Amino acid sequence: MSEASTAGFAEGVPLSLWLATAGGTDFPKLHGTVEVDVAVIGGGIAGLTAALALKRSGRSVAVLEAGRIGTGVTGHTTGKVTSLHRLAYTELDQTHGRSAARIYGLANQAAVEHVAGVVAAEGISCGFLRVANYTFAAAGDALPAVRAEAGLAAGLGLPAAFTAEVPLPFPVAGAVRFDGQAQIHSVQYLQGLAARVDGEGSFVFEGTRANDLQEGTRVRIAAEGGTVLAADAIVATNVPFGDHGRFEALCPPHRSYIVAAPLDTPALDATFISADEPMRSLLTVHLNGMTYLLTGGEGHPAAEPVDPASRHASLAAFARSQFGAGPVAYRWSTQDAMPLDGLPYAGPLNPDSRHAFVITGLRKWGLTNGTAAALMLADLLNGTPNDWAPLFDSSRAPSPTVTRPEVSTAPTPAGTGNIDGTRPDDAARQIADLAPNDGTVIETAGASTAYFRDEAGGIHAVSAICTHLGCTVGFNRGERTWDCPCHGSRFDVDGKVIQGPATEDLPQRPAP
Ligand code: FES
Repeated sequence: MSEASTAGFAEGVPLSLWLATAGGTDFPKLHGTVEVDVAVIGGGIAGLTAALALKRSGRSVAVLEAGRIGTGVTGHTTGKVTSLHRLAYTELDQTHGRSAARIYGLANQAAVEHVAGVVAAEGISCGFLRVANYTFAAAGDALPAVRAEAGLAAGLGLPAAFTAEVPLPFPVAGAVRFDGQAQIHSVQYLQGLAARVDGEGSFVFEGTRANDLQEGTRVRIAAEGGTVLAADAIVATNVPFGDHGRFEALCPPHRSYIVAAPLDTPALDATFISADEPMRSLLTVHLNGMTYLLTGGEGHPAAEPVDPASRHASLAAFARSQFGAGPVAYRWSTQDAMPLDGLPYAGPLNPDSRHAFVITGLRKWGLTNGTAAALMLADLLNGTPNDWAPLFDSSRAPSPTVTRPEVSTAPTPAGTGNIDGTRPDDAARQIADLAPNDGTVIETAGASTAYFRDEAGGIHAVSAICTHLGCTVGFNRGERTWDCPCHGSRFDVDGKVIQGPATEDLPQRPAP
C-alpha cells in the first residue's frame, strides 16, 4: 500500500459525490407555530429514519433541518450500509463483553435489513445494491486480528466468515467477509425519506435552525422563523445542542477524508476497509454513466491541526497506484462524533429529560448505527420494548474500560489557535496578497478576523472567534471552510455554520 503525499493538492471539486449528483430539495422554512406529536431536529439518517418510522406508526412529526436535506454528515459518508465495522466486535467484546457485542451486531444487521425494506416498501430510488463487505488484512501482521474478528462475529450470529479470497487488485493476506450487506446513494436515500415524511399532517422544514429547546407540558422548540410544540422531541444533529456540552466530552469529533476518482477498470463488486494502518475504505459507485472509485481514510481527531490537502493527496495517490484511477473528480471530508466507550447514544437528552431525546456518537457508521438508534427511539416513544435500549442508553456512565485517547475539550484562548500570527501593520499587505480561494486569520487591535478571497477577487470577512466557546478558527484550504480546532465546528467562508456544536454563525466583519 505505497503512496505519496503532495502538499497543495487541489484536484477535483471540493464537494461530496453524493451532493454533487443528488439534485436538490425544496422544503419550506418554518413560519409561525406548528404542533405535532414529535419534533425531530436534524434531517440526517437518524432524524429522518426516526421521523418516518414514527409517522408510519401513526404519529405526526415535524423535522427541522438547518440547511438542506443531506448536506450534513450523512451526505458525506461512503454510502456503506453494513454491520461489519472494521474490527468493532473485537473491540466491543474486550471493552463491554460478549453480550454487548452481540446486541450491537444484531442492531446493526437489523438496520441493514431496515434500509433494504424501506427502499423496497417506499419505492426509494437510491442505487441500493446488495454487496459483500470485507475488512481486509493487507499485510500478515493484521491477519490474526481479522481471523479473530471473523470467528467472533460468526459466533454472534452475524453473516461472517474468514476468507483468503479477497476480490481486490493488490495482494491481501485475508479478510472478514460479511455477506448480504449493501451500499446506497446516501443523499438520494435521505431525500426519499424526507419526501415520505412530509405531508398528511407531518412536515419537513429546511433552512430552519433550532435555537432552543425547553421541556414542559409540551416540548417547545424555538427555531428560525417560528416555534414547534410537541409531546416529544428528538435531537439528531450529530453534535447535540441543549445537552449542556455533555456529549461533546463523551464523543469528540473525528475527521476523515474521501476522494472519488473515475475508474476504467471493472468495478468492485463489494465494499472494503483495511484492518491495517493507514486505514483505507474502498468501494465503487456507478453514477451518470461513470464508475467512481471512492477511497476514504486519513482520519484524525478534529482537534489535531493537519493539512487537509495532503490527506486528500495520499488517498488520490493510493487510488492511482493500486487501481489506476484517474484524476480526482470530487474530494470531501466529514466529521463524526466518536464515543469514547465505542457505543452510540440514544435516549434521554439530559439525565432529567422525560420528553427530549438524543441520538449521537454514531462512530462513523451512521447509516446503520443511526438507523438502529432511530428505530430504538421510535419504539421508546411508542411504548414498544426494544432489546437494544440498555446498550445505547444515553444516560449511561462512561465505561471504566475506555481505552480511546482523550481529546481536550478546553477552549484555546483566542489568538493562539490555528492562525497566521499576523502583525497589525502587515494586515493590509497580507489581505492584498491573498490568492483566490485562500484564507487567513489576522489579528489587529484585539480583534481576530478571518479573511477569504473568492475566485472573482472579492474579500469575505468574518469574525475568527468560534461562536461555540471562543477558540480561533483556521482556514481549511482543501474545502474552503473555517474549522475550529477545539470541538470541530465548521463554518463556510461567509461564516454560516456547516457543522456544530456551534449553532450561531460567525459575525460579519467589514471587508477592507
Ligand atoms: Fe468549541 Fe469552536 S470552541 S467548536
